Amino acid sequence: MRKKVTKAIFPVAGMGTRFLPATKSVPKEIMTLVDRPLIQYAIDEARAAGIKEFIFVTSRGKGALEDYFDLAPQLEQELRKKGKTELLDILKSTNMDSGAIAYIRQHKALGLGHAVWCARRLVGNEPFAVILPDDVIAAEKPCLQQMVEAYQETGGNMVAAMEVAPERASSYGVLDISEENGQLVKVKGMVEKPPADQAPSNLAVIGRYILSPSVLQNLNKMKSGAGGEIQLTDAIALDIENHNNVYGYRFRGQRFDCGSKSGFLQATVSFGLAREELHDDLKAYLKSLMLDDA
Ligand code: G1P
Repeated sequence: MRKKVTKAIFPVAGMGTRFLPATKSVPKEIMTLVDRPLIQYAIDEARAAGIKEFIFVTSRGKGALEDYFDLAPQLEQELRKKGKTELLDILKSTNMDSGAIAYIRQHKALGLGHAVWCARRLVGNEPFAVILPDDVIAAEKPCLQQMVEAYQETGGNMVAAMEVAPERASSYGVLDISEENGQLVKVKGMVEKPPADQAPSNLAVIGRYILSPSVLQNLNKMKSGAGGEIQLTDAIALDIENHNNVYGYRFRGQRFDCGSKSGFLQATVSFGLAREELHDDLKAYLKSLMLDDA
């Protein structure tokens, strides 16, 4: 029996400059899709996949994230007094068991690989997941859960993978594939943000990973790569050289790039339409816009 994946790292140290001025005082991960912050979607997905320990790699100015997962006794008392049990239930999804959540600071913005490395002592010697909350994935079965199930069969390292338009490949980590087997692909190489004409495929890495602790060891010796940053992609690629398997998993679901304004707006519309109480109003509004455009 393979060791269960029970720990997940959430790299949330980024400054979110693309969303200034909002992110001047609000962490990007607290920005909301409909009424739930981005980080809530990530946590729910992790929980569905069996994650029990949540490790946040944060930075200065991210205090609102810690408050978000704390109890809010005054608010809860008020709601109880007013008999608002539905709202109390909604608040429950933000509660964490004592000791289930840990925050560690990345003191310098040296890249995603470095952020993950900052959590190495909390992860220890076991497989772990990494979730990038910017990548929001709408799926019937949550993406990380799909991957954990596939990982039970494969072991090794696994990254979520999605085809992108060839001209977009240079914005992603890109997989060099040796074998295709349905949703699983075996990976023989990985490149972070390759120049447009040098991408080995158009299968891109999306922000969900299940990694073996050897990747943390690789990160010990990692030099800066693409963009002058220490790249997680490079540390995973090094594992292939060390004869550990790496798989890409073509997940079922729709991914929104909530690190970009356009992606964030698309996600807002899509998650809005998916809510029964908002669906009709929003759809009517979108239809009226289309008529205006015609
Ligand atoms: C990160 C990873 C990249 C991956 C992408 C997915 O890049 O480094 O390999 O393809 O997330 O969203 P970033 O978008 O943070 O530059």
